[in-house]
Order: sequence, then C-alpha cells, then structure tokens
Amino acid sequence: MAKILIIHGPNLNLLGRRETETYGVATLASINQQISAMAERAKIHCETFQSNHEGLIIDEIQKHGGSIDFIIINPAGFTHTSVAIRDALLAVNIPFIETHLSNPSKRESFRHTSYFSDIAYGIISGFGAKSYQLAMSEAIEYCTHNCV
Ligand code: DQA
Repeated sequence: MAKILIIHGPNLNLLGRRETETYGVATLASINQQISAMAERAKIHCETFQSNHEGLIIDEIQKHGGSIDFIIINPAGFTHTSVAIRDALLAVNIPFIETHLSNPSKRESFRHTSYFSDIAYGIISGFGAKSYQLAMSEAIEYCTHNCV
C-alpha cells in the first residue's frame, strides 16, 4: 500500500482561530480528517504530523525516509527560513508538494522567498483549506501511477 506523509509546520495547530481572514476557519483536525478520508477512499495509507519545532519536523522526515512514497508539507513560517528542513527533504529524496493556505507571493515581501519551491514536485497555494485537498488529489494521482 502506498504511503503519504502530511507535515504541518508551526502555528498551524491554531488554524480555525488564527488570522481567520488569511487562513480561514477550518481547523487542522477537520483538514486532516478530509484528506485522510480521501486517502482511505484511494486505499492509500496516510499519516499526519504537526510540530512547532524545526528539529522535530526534520526527525519526522528522516524517520520516514525509506518507508514513505510522497510528502505533502506546509512548512508555514519555516518556508521562508529553513535550509535544514530543505536539506532533510533532499536527503530522503521523496517527492513532495509544498502547500500553503494563503498565497505567500501576494503577501509581505519576506514571504516571497521559499526554501522549498525549487525542489518541490509541485506547489499549491492560495486556496485555503482546499489547498490540502488539491495537494492530496495530486499525491494520490502520483501514487496511483508510480507506487506499488
Ligand atoms: C503559510 C504561509 C506562511 O507564510 C506563514 O508563515 C504560515 C502559513 C500558509 O499556509 O499560507 O504560517 O504557510
């Protein structure tokens, strides 16, 4: 069975009450529920993980190195700062979709730099909670064609 890992970065545990005009009202639990159901329907195993700590996100990526087929990651604030998470993704060499609720390119200039976009399989941003569903749909498509 193919396996997809979903990683949510810092402050995404506050979704639903954090800057709702930017990120919407969906909670992280409801987002995880929706995309897990999509994976289940496609008979794909999926695991979700959230951390506010850079090192724990790196540990999670390393832990799954040989056992995961695809990653969906919203690095959140680390998008614009983390060489170390980028290096972890390069080290495990697992295709990933960089996912954002907002469209960082439309926001403050410091959000225009991503340490992930140039090494991502694809990028989905700006659709609120739906960004995750779009990412999951593409991840399922990838796994259907490329994973045993
Ligand atoms: C975000 C965009 C980032 O710039 C921000 O730091 C986040 C969330 C998004 O999903 O829109 O925390 O990744």
